[in-house]
Amino acid sequence: MGTECAYNSIAVVGTGGYGRHFISALLATRKFVRVRAVTRKTSDDAKRKRLQALQEMGAEIFEYKSSSTESFKQAFNGIHTVISAVSIAAVPDQISMIDGAILANVQWFIPSEYGVAHYPSVWMPFTSPLAPKTVVQKYLSDYAKPKGLSYTIVYTGLALDYLDPKSLGLKLSTGSATLVGRGGSPVSFTAFPDVVSLVVNIVQRPAEMQNRFIRFAGSTTKMRELVKIVTNNDRGENVKIVCIEEAKSKFCELARRQDMSAFQIYSRLLIEEGLGQINRYREPLDNSLFPELHPEPIQQTLRRLIKANEATAKAKLKPNPAHRSATTKSVTDGLGRTQKQLDGED
Ligand SMILES: NC(=O)c1ccc[n+]([C@@H]2O[C@H](COP(=O)([O-])OP(=O)(O)OC[C@H]3O[C@@H](n4cnc5c(N)ncnc54)[C@H](OP(=O)(O)O)[C@@H]3O)[C@@H](O)[C@H]2O)c1
Repeated sequence: MGTECAYNSIAVVGTGGYGRHFISALLATRKFVRVRAVTRKTSDDAKRKRLQALQEMGAEIFEYKSSSTESFKQAFNGIHTVISAVSIAAVPDQISMIDGAILANVQWFIPSEYGVAHYPSVWMPFTSPLAPKTVVQKYLSDYAKPKGLSYTIVYTGLALDYLDPKSLGLKLSTGSATLVGRGGSPVSFTAFPDVVSLVVNIVQRPAEMQNRFIRFAGSTTKMRELVKIVTNNDRGENVKIVCIEEAKSKFCELARRQDMSAFQIYSRLLIEEGLGQINRYREPLDNSLFPELHPEPIQQTLRRLIKANEATAKAKLKPNPAHRSATTKSVTDGLGRTQKQLDGED
């Protein structure tokens, strides 16, 4: 990697989950003359604090009122590279983002992915929740690229330290698990900080990284291996097995009621079908292009999460001195006499 980045003016759209970490890591490289956070206009206090913190680190802030082409054209004025880190709900807005980027002469657009590849499911007769992301990919390759806007699609598999492990059936607090099927299909995982390092690395290497897919997996393992770590045994104790047909009917029942928990069952079915592996059809992984990255293996991520969970549980059990003094105060008259003394029992 060169010491200076040719595409040194960058915007990140979305300041939530991944976005704000991309912004702070980009600023930390000191390779960019401009790092701009592009965010929806808000008066929400928590978000204002988040924006203020980013600004204090050195980010420019651009707030937009509507997801129109014109708004994004203004947002990307003077920008070479756009990283989109918008939520799944905002994926379709990326079409006007791309149109705005073309009008603003942006040269490189990285759409919001950082997850699994878009393989069609044979098991599930439903449109994939990833379908809008596929539309964006097609728009980039067929429409935007001929107009001079390059793209990079980044697949990293699942980030267990970002998702709630419970959503995959791993119950850390009780050391138990629920598996859909045998848990025997390989799944790609990359820990959250490694995804951030990867994206920051990619945007500094335009010549090598443009107009291609990057498949990076911190590690690949089967769900049943993770279940062994969580339940601390390999005999299936504390493991509830849900049959595939049973999960499919539960999914259909919930989906018909438009119950959002249907999505969790859907994800677990797709994992068991093998669609959580970003190189399911033997597409080569690109890890060797990033020798400076040393991703955390999933087993280590999981152990880290289990430890953090135990520490939180312990902290909840431990008598907190602050709480104790608050209680003491509540039963004294403010001069140190306890309620018992005041009641004349001593
Ligand atoms: N591999 C994994 O395990 C994994 C896990 C989670 C997510 N992902 C993927 O990572 C990408 C980013 O996800 P994320 O979790 O970082 O997103 P998120 O936290 O849900 O949202 C990111 C930001 O999107 C912006 N946004 C713009 N329009 C929005 C709208 N209509 N509704 C909600 N937010 C909107 C908001 O930023 P402002 O308020 O600043 O506008 C929001 O904070 C997605 O493609 C997602 O599918 C992957």
